[in-house]
Amino acid sequence: MTSQAELDAVRRAVALSARALGRTSPNPPVGAVVLAPDGTVAGEGWTQPPGGAHAEVRALAEAGELARGGTAVVTLEPCRHTGRTGPCTSALLEAGIARVVVACADPTPQAGGGAALLRAAGVDVETGVLADEVATGPLEAWLTSRRTGRPFVTWKYAATLDGRSAAADGTSRWITGAASRADVHRLRAEADAVVAGVGTVLADDPLLDARGVDDARQPLRVVVDTSGRTPLTARALQGRTPALVVTAPLPDDPGHPLRREVGRGPDGHVDPHALLALLQDEHDVVSVLLEGGPVLAGAFVAAGLVDRVVAYVAPALLGSGPAALGPAGVGTIAAAHRLQVDDVTRTGEDVRLVLRPAAPAQAPRPEERVA
Ligand SMILES: NC(=O)c1ccc[n+]([C@@H]2O[C@H](COP(=O)([O-])OP(=O)(O)OC[C@H]3O[C@@H](n4cnc5c(N)ncnc54)[C@H](OP(=O)(O)O)[C@@H]3O)[C@@H](O)[C@H]2O)c1
Repeated sequence: MTSQAELDAVRRAVALSARALGRTSPNPPVGAVVLAPDGTVAGEGWTQPPGGAHAEVRALAEAGELARGGTAVVTLEPCRHTGRTGPCTSALLEAGIARVVVACADPTPQAGGGAALLRAAGVDVETGVLADEVATGPLEAWLTSRRTGRPFVTWKYAATLDGRSAAADGTSRWITGAASRADVHRLRAEADAVVAGVGTVLADDPLLDARGVDDARQPLRVVVDTSGRTPLTARALQGRTPALVVTAPLPDDPGHPLRREVGRGPDGHVDPHALLALLQDEHDVVSVLLEGGPVLAGAFVAAGLVDRVVAYVAPALLGSGPAALGPAGVGTIAAAHRLQVDDVTRTGEDVRLVLRPAAPAQAPRPEERVA
């Protein structure tokens, strides 16, 4: 039976794990709280960058002797394998922890199974505590990427109330207000990579880095550019923040250190699946912030590669100009990419919506078909 103190500790561990977002890949951002035998908080921790301590180890160190006979509360099942650091299960046993409360199971074959190992060693282990709530928090990208075998993709866009991402003359600065733009910088700092198409780079010359966020870790900046049209003077390629231009194979091209080639999709553009595989395999990317524009975003949506949408909607009307999303493989209403709304928040004068794909659209009965 989970106590109220343990439920509170799970939610505290989730809040702690948010501090690790964007800093731990390819490891998961985990939070941990150690409760002393009297149920009071004795130690707290969150995952350190790769090679650093895991959340449990930090929390145990802070708790010291108070951990003996106490309870460890963790957002993810403690690992039982030796990677760059030792197994967390061993650290928990050595500290004399009597009970472990776990929110989400670790689905990876090499690290999973920690709960069973602890139980076999005589520790009282409860799993699945607030699992659904925790799985949509800071762990979501990592958990989803383990399930799908590719990085988790958040498509972010800004649009007017009538769904325009730019005006008829191509101008788009700024559709949304300062609070929304600051929120986007937070999303960038939480992502491992920020991805934009060459169309956006040629139109806006964005920096694509995270600014105005305390102690921000910079994401890898990625320009998707089938035929290598990105000027090397583009601002997204400057500075010390890492950057990459991903092209299709360009046989007669001398290449450039910032360029990487992947295969083409059936439409002749860079294959989004191959792009994500490259980011995962060569850059340990677990979470991608897709910043568009509409053409590249349409390709990702059509390929079923968007896991979360963050939309900033400004109280403004344009009446003409490009839509926020380009062609996404939808020719009829029954094929619409349906989403469910997870959150609606005011960001300054704008509204921010967080959505994720709903169940696949059902084929309509004949009488429901829209002409
Ligand atoms: N409001 C917003 O949130 C927002 C965000 C970003 C941009 N924008 C606006 O969007 C406009 C630019 O729009 P855009 O749609 O041209 O930009 P984009 O989506 O950034 O770039 C489109 C280009 O990406 C390349 N690309 C590479 N792989 C692709 C693939 N698999 N599928 C499709 N395209 C692929 C294509 O050119 P190649 O095949 O030649 O490489 C394509 O022309 C600008 O006005 C900008 O201000 C608005």
